[in-house]
Order: sequence, then C-alpha cells, then structure tokens
Amino acid sequence: MMKLIGHGRSHAKIILMGEHSVVYGGPAIAVPYSGVEVHVKVKASELDKSTVRCAFYEGLVEEMPDVIASLYHTIRVTAEKTLGISSPLDYIIESTIPAERGMGSSAAVACALIRALYDFAERPLSQSQLLGLISEAETIAHGSPSGLDGLLMTKKNPVIFRRPQEIENLFFKGSLYLIVGDSGHIGRTKEAVMDVKRQIDSQDAKAKEAIEAIDQLVLSAREAIDRCQWEQLGHLMTKDHHFLQVLGVSSKELDALVASALTAGALGAKLTGGGRGGCMIAITDDPDRVEAIRANLIKAGAKTTYAHQLHTANPLL
Ligand code: MEV
Repeated sequence: MMKLIGHGRSHAKIILMGEHSVVYGGPAIAVPYSGVEVHVKVKASELDKSTVRCAFYEGLVEEMPDVIASLYHTIRVTAEKTLGISSPLDYIIESTIPAERGMGSSAAVACALIRALYDFAERPLSQSQLLGLISEAETIAHGSPSGLDGLLMTKKNPVIFRRPQEIENLFFKGSLYLIVGDSGHIGRTKEAVMDVKRQIDSQDAKAKEAIEAIDQLVLSAREAIDRCQWEQLGHLMTKDHHFLQVLGVSSKELDALVASALTAGALGAKLTGGGRGGCMIAITDDPDRVEAIRANLIKAGAKTTYAHQLHTANPLL
C-alpha cells in the first residue's frame, strides 16, 4: 500500500561548541533549531521518470547536478534499494534552512526526504534506520561526518555528543539567548573537514594542540551550562573561535561578525558548523541586548540573523 502523498519534515541544528574536534572523537554541544525547517512531499509521478523540485534544481532525478549528489543518493538508496519502490515519483522540497551555512541543511533535507518516503510507503521507520540513511547522505555531502548533524535531526533537546554513540541531553536552566548571524557566504564544510584532516594526518603540532584545546573548552562549557555560568560559557566560546581560526576554518567575514557581536556586548561569539563561510553564533543572557547584537551583525555584513532562546529547564530540578 502506498499513500497518495508522503510528508516529511526536519529542523536545523546549531553547534554551540566542538565542531571539527568532534570528528576526532572529542565532545560537541549542539542544539536543534526549529526556527527554520525543511518540508518534503513525495507523490506518484504522472511522468515515466522521477522528478525533483527544490531551490537549486527542477527537473529529472537522473539529471540532478553534482552539487546535490547526496540528495540523488538518498533518493536512490531509500526509495529503490531500501523501500523497493520502482514506480516514478515527484519530490517537492521546500526549505527555509539556508543551504551550506553550517545549520545542517544537507542532513535536514536527507532526514525530511527519508521520512517522506517512509510515510508514502506506509512503512515504520526506526531511529537507527533513519540515522543510518542520513549518515550515508552526509558521507557524500561532507566526506567523513561525525554523525552529529544527523543525530540532531532526530532530537528535540540540546545534547552533548561524542562519536560514535555517546549522547546526553543538556538542560539550560534560566534563560540564555543564542543569536545566529549568516555571513551570506557559502560554507565549505567538506573542504574544511578535509583540510583539518590533512593537518592532523601530517602530525601538524599546532592543529593537534588546537583540537585538544577545543576538547577541554567543550568539557568546561558543559560545566558552565550546568551551573548557569553564562559569562564563563561566552568566554569559552570566544576561545573556541580562536582555535578554529588556528585550524584555518574561519573566514574574514566570520571574524568580522564575531568581533561585531562582541562589540555589541555579547558574552561570547564564534563560528558554527563547518566554517569557511556560513554562520556564526553569539550568546547573551540579557533579553534587551538581543536586538543590539542583531543590528550590529547586520551592520558588519550579516545577510540574516536569527535569535533563539535556550531555556530547556529540567522539570525534575
Ligand atoms: C559540520 O556541521 C560539523 C563538523 O564538525 C563536521 C562533522 O561533525 O561531521 C565540521
């Protein structure tokens, strides 16, 4: 049995701390963000070949351009190999998650697409099947993913994660505001991840020290979060940005946005995600400062800003 239309959705993710070092087994703190989302619809096609409509491309699945190779792979593997659907389908992908900006757009599209196909085929989808299929798509999109982006697609709460499978929910007591500034420049996660790998493989001492330093910063950040020490958390984030600069994954635009958030009174700021473009984040515990930080980010060149309140108070506390 197939449904007339299958639906799937997913949200974005924001890495608070630990990007890149997480690839080497370090801890990372990340937050699911539903302020932007992707929705996928799947239906039987009236044509004799499958089609796809998304922001980058409208046409036959078999002629999809290389930039969305991970999407092509997800369609082939999920629809044909896993679910055994051989009839042509139309895929309609609508997303407000900015693509290639470090907010998990590729993992979110894969997640929503897999969910839509399973919904269309009226088949149950387990968490481990979903994660496995997203991971295949992410390997094509990013090279050697840590699994963090995929995992965040299936989470509602902030988490601290260490590969392969150590996951703990994190609770932000009190309230903290997270401001995201989009540089408007495409992030190059795959290239950045491969570049860091080249440094680590060639025993580059500075890169190795930077990764180790970030691991320690993330562990301290976890303690700061548990104790609601937001000033300390901000300080650790800004230090993390410094080590990401050492790894060569920042950009002059991201550095300018980080500086402008700090000038506007943010407690801390750093790039988020793969870097080399994409987004940065800043935090404040003062609701009256949120708009000032956003305004300064726009003045410094941000194309868009988002604000998100982190206040997942543990009901047991
Ligand atoms: C990308 O969102 C985060 C990175 O740490 C890569 C990964 O974890 O797979 C740069």
